[in-house]
Amino acid sequence: MVNWVRYTVLTTLLLATFSLFAGLCAADDQHGKPHRDRGESHEGVGGKHDRNSEIHLNPVTNQTYKETCGACHLAYQPGLLPSGSWAILLSNLRSHFGETVHIDASSKEAIEKYLTDNSADHSEAKRSRKIMRSLKGETPSRITEIQYIRRKHRDIPSEVFGRKSIGSFSNCLACHKGADEGIYDDDDTIIPK
Ligand code: HEC
Ligand code: HEC
Repeated sequence: MVNWVRYTVLTTLLLATFSLFAGLCAADDQHGKPHRDRGESHEGVGGKHDRNSEIHLNPVTNQTYKETCGACHLAYQPGLLPSGSWAILLSNLRSHFGETVHIDASSKEAIEKYLTDNSADHSEAKRSRKIMRSLKGETPSRITEIQYIRRKHRDIPSEVFGRKSIGSFSNCLACHKGADEGIYDDDDTIIPK
């Protein structure tokens, strides 16, 4: 009798573990699909990489970061700045570009961990590697100060950024329709009038 019970419990546990695993695999599969905004989709080990999914930055996944740091502007992808820059930004929230960002200690800790773990110096995305190469060890407090980013926008006259429909260079989303998904390709970019 005892053995029978034990067997049933074991079988149930095994089944539960299996379905959980199967579920996780299915979820992973979705991520692995060659969806245009995923930075991590690879065509198998050693296979060819889809250029687009390789260059795109991973979209923001952390809800605390998205809500707190996306309240006034786009929640910039962590892969746009090195961890040193994120640390500087988070230590100066009282004077954040003329604003004060209010944030409780535990949210701040969660945000700092998320930004650090996914920063340009910890990202595999080609865009992040280009940013790191262009920085040469600098830790700017703006993405728009990075040479690589400045170079990509050098043909845009400065008065364009000041247009009502744009506001400033920091408003990536005004021109890059896929900016909140980490997509900054030319073909997804329109400068509004
Ligand atoms: C109260 C509004 C507000 C909140 C909340 C806020 N910011 Fe900002 N942030 C600003 C303003 C204003 C600027 C300057 C934008 C400009 O120059 O047009 C800015 C600029 C930035 C920039 C530089 C953008 C560039 O030009 O490259 C970064 C990076 C940034 N913020 C990160 C954060 C992070 C991280 C958080 C969350 C901890 C955060 N912000 C929360 C108002 C805010
Ligand atoms: C006024 C519109 C505008 C704003 C605002 C803007 N960009 Fe761009 N961006 C462009 C245009 C146009 C290009 C394409 C330049 C070219 O290749 O001729 C571009 C190119 C880029 C590229 C290179 C794309 C590639 O594959 O070569 C990146 C990366 C980029 N932008 C990031 C950003 C980020 C990050 C922000 C915000 C901090 C931003 N941009 C703000 C218009 C804008």
